[in-house]
Amino acid sequence: MIKKILKIIGIPLLMLFIAYGCKHSPTETPGPGPDTNNIGGGCNADTVYFVNTILPLLQSNCAMSGCHDVASYKEGVIMTDYANIINTGKVKPGNPADSKLYKVLIKTDNERMPPPPMAAFSSEQIAKVRKWIEQGAKNNHCKEIQCDSVNVSFASHVFPIIQNYCMGCHGTLNLSGGVSLTNYQQIVAAATNNNKLLGSIKHLPGYVAMPPSGKLDACSIAKISKWIADGTPQN
Ligand code: HEC
Repeated sequence: MIKKILKIIGIPLLMLFIAYGCKHSPTETPGPGPDTNNIGGGCNADTVYFVNTILPLLQSNCAMSGCHDVASYKEGVIMTDYANIINTGKVKPGNPADSKLYKVLIKTDNERMPPPPMAAFSSEQIAKVRKWIEQGAKNNHCKEIQCDSVNVSFASHVFPIIQNYCMGCHGTLNLSGGVSLTNYQQIVAAATNNNKLLGSIKHLPGYVAMPPSGKLDACSIAKISKWIADGTPQN
């Protein structure tokens, strides 16, 4: 008798448990910074990784104060971490066309995000968000197995890092700390003015630690350091 009752209530209970478990996973966001929690195996060129690409892009372009950080959360949207990005950005894994986060990026009226007069995401950045959602909008990350910090160029290495991690807060309209980092000249100016660029990304004493959400990965810092040590060449 007891066995029978257990059997009857046990199955729905188990199903409830599974459903609950699915809904709430994954909740943890590793965040940028120490590479320790990495899965390893290197970065697959065909995969867009949340922690490497999407999170810094959204943190830098959307999660600033007054917009979509935890304190401001305009329209209830918070772009600071995985769980909030999925939930408040109404991301439907596998379906960018039905995901609010993607739809607002491609709008052409003034409901576009980031809102005019701020610059729209570039077509490359939009394509990355699209691909990440198509690939299941996972909370994934990767680490380059070998960091090539010897053959560093401005266009292929330094600029993409700044574009991804810094430009949302250091653009032409949104000028945090009076620092603009939108082109070669401005980035060189930050690099040569009291070593501010390196001091801020290495979190050296006397500098404001950048980006505010956490330290860049070691490979990105090594690449920028090498470029500065080489005398900030344009190519
Ligand atoms: C979320 C917004 C945000 C992001 C992203 C961001 N910054 Fe900043 N940054 C700020 C703010 C705000 C200040 C001014 C801080 C202050 O003066 O206390 C600042 C100041 C700076 C300064 C001046 C520091 C000094 O000591 O005078 C530099 C250089 C800088 N940022 C570089 C960067 C770089 C490089 C990145 C990308 C790796 C970056 N920032 C990403 C908001 C941001």
